[in-house]
Amino acid sequence: MKPIADTLANGSILLDTDGKPVNAHGPGVMYHQGVYYLFGEIKKGKTWLVPGQNWEDYRVSAGGISCYSSTDLKHWKNRGIALKPEVGDPGNDLDTGRVIERPKVIYNARTKKFVMWMHIDKNDYNYSRGGIAISDNPVGPYQYLGSIRPNNQMLRDMTLYKDDDGKAYLIYSSEDNNTMHVCQLSDDYLKPTTTYVRIFENKRRESPSIFKNKGKYYLITSGCSGWSPNAASYAVADHVMGPWKEEGNPCKGANAEVTFFSQGAFVLPIVSQPGKYIFMGDLWNKTDLEKSAYLWLPLRINDGKVEIYNP
Ligand code: GAL
Repeated sequence: MKPIADTLANGSILLDTDGKPVNAHGPGVMYHQGVYYLFGEIKKGKTWLVPGQNWEDYRVSAGGISCYSSTDLKHWKNRGIALKPEVGDPGNDLDTGRVIERPKVIYNARTKKFVMWMHIDKNDYNYSRGGIAISDNPVGPYQYLGSIRPNNQMLRDMTLYKDDDGKAYLIYSSEDNNTMHVCQLSDDYLKPTTTYVRIFENKRRESPSIFKNKGKYYLITSGCSGWSPNAASYAVADHVMGPWKEEGNPCKGANAEVTFFSQGAFVLPIVSQPGKYIFMGDLWNKTDLEKSAYLWLPLRINDGKVEIYNP
């Protein structure tokens, strides 16, 4: 059977049901009551290079977080802005002058709230905090609660994972991107607990995406080269808190060493096809970030090994 992802975002601009480009970068997807909700960074307007940095610190004004919904993973309806940015309020985490990246949403069955975590930063990326927002509805509007450094540790690229037992975890690049952390969240998912582990020590891994298959956890990360592509790598564990065993690059074929020019953001389980997943990557256009596209590829698990092909 033709993998569903073949017909999805294959590097071209993905259009929503109004025919407009989907603006949801560094995305995350939540499946809730038969509907997939896609959340992402709204990148709009001029890209500029932040002066005085020794790396390619290209950025656009923070546009807030978008939300799209779909029942078939092909047709995406724009559900509006899930989390609005603030204008002219430089002290506010959500000011357009800040960085708001990699939003992820999970549902808390106990509190009946949808909980969003995201990376909040300033121009030089040294603020490095996790922002938290909640809503009674999947599409929002989300109410911003504030930001935190979990256990006083830096947080940049991040993802969220809700396990089958209802426990949730925050996974993020920490220690100035040198080492990743996995931190268990409080029962309401609004706070980090003091239970956390350091993984991939000094390996400089970013853009974590996690999924579970047949009782094993898989964590795909990118290297650390800003908006420029690099080789992905994955690791396997029996528990979210590890130990994680590194298995190398899941990408196969031409341009596998640069993740087919993309950077992973999320692995989406296809609910109607158990065991099938979509690897959702961003094709960053670093000098015109609004023009960044998406690469959504079928991800397979073959004999316990993760394989991503660019068909
Ligand atoms: C990347 C990261 C992106 C963004 C970018 C800024 O390494 O994965 O989410 O933060 O750096 O240059």
